Amino acid sequence: MRRKFVAGNWKMNGSANSIRELLQGIREGAAEVAAVELAVFPSFVYLGLVEQQLSDSSVGWGAQNLSEHASGAHTGEVAGSMLQDFHCDYVIVGHSERRTLYGETDEIVARKFATARKIGLKPILCVGETLQEREQGVTEAVVERQIKAVLDLEGISGFADAVIAYEPVWAIGTGRTATAGQAQEVHAFIRAKLAQLDSALASQVCILYGGSMKAANAAELLAMPDIDGGLIGGASLEAKEFLAIAKAGC
Ligand code: PGA
Repeated sequence: MRRKFVAGNWKMNGSANSIRELLQGIREGAAEVAAVELAVFPSFVYLGLVEQQLSDSSVGWGAQNLSEHASGAHTGEVAGSMLQDFHCDYVIVGHSERRTLYGETDEIVARKFATARKIGLKPILCVGETLQEREQGVTEAVVERQIKAVLDLEGISGFADAVIAYEPVWAIGTGRTATAGQAQEVHAFIRAKLAQLDSALASQVCILYGGSMKAANAAELLAMPDIDGGLIGGASLEAKEFLAIAKAGC
């Protein structure tokens, strides 16, 4: 039985004050949704604050990105070992904003995935098609290509401790959610692809949905057999809304 997982991707939002308040709200409500695993993903600079506020709670945390390199002359980058200093459980790799705004290719994302695993950070690999790709009918081909880049580097065992987030780019931050049926279809496709290589591993791997998920549509999405949780952007910035999404997964 896969445990539901609800992750809050805060993106480039928040301040020390707003984060303290948000975390207090999440902490207060976490016991009520204990059946669901919760984690938050602040900007790098707030990881210390988040660790301080959450270390005695059941809520986990992670970073939104990492460098593919271990250390050295990479001005402005953050190494995985630095994330370990803040006891991150997870790191998001290949978010569509990283891919489209910052030029991260499938190969770069795969190397980041490998770097994270090598040091014991659990990667959350984001995949998903653009609107144009969906309209062209190549959704599955795109998602398969994004996952294949990781398989080529890490093999199927690379997914043993990893999480996959299916995030249709056209649904991110747009208020336009994939229907539960549309999302389930892609989630089932991803699981089936992995099952061709290792069916036991595929049945265990956690596949999140992301893209304008909120309390109002969470129950329907989370009821789907292959949707194991959500990667939540906008709706994770309010404790009540974030917890209501988790509640829908209980
Ligand atoms: P959204 O973002 O929930 O604001 O659409 C999701 C994501 O980008 O992870």
